[in-house]
Amino acid sequence: MIGRLNHVGIAVASIEAAKATYCDLYGVSERAITETRDLPAQGVRFAFVNLPNSQIELIEPLGENSPITKFLERNPSGGQHHVCFEVADIYAARDEMVRKGATVLNEPRIGAHGAPIIFVHPRNSNGVLVELMETPKGAHP
Ligand code: CO
Repeated sequence: MIGRLNHVGIAVASIEAAKATYCDLYGVSERAITETRDLPAQGVRFAFVNLPNSQIELIEPLGENSPITKFLERNPSGGQHHVCFEVADIYAARDEMVRKGATVLNEPRIGAHGAPIIFVHPRNSNGVLVELMETPKGAHP
């Protein structure tokens, strides 16, 4: 069973512009927003906006074959890309998804939080791309 909502992923054309929106429009402190980091293996740059109960993951395309590029072609001003729920064990979660007939889009791999993740096809969840992430060790003492 899924646990906490870890974050909501938002695809953006410019992380810097999106950071300014969260600061200027929504009053988020700059200290609550992480540095932007590159994840070349997955074709993205990302930063997290830390909220009291969750995070927003800002995702910008990196390189020519970024999976985010197509999304931004369909949604030029950006948009909600995925939601991420925590699970206790990523391999157990993967096996359970497969057993129930869901389409798991990747083998478990290390995601932006440094914890293993999988993605489940939007057709299995009312059109929403779902990321499952193993709860990082010591994350919720
Ligand atoms: Co994510």
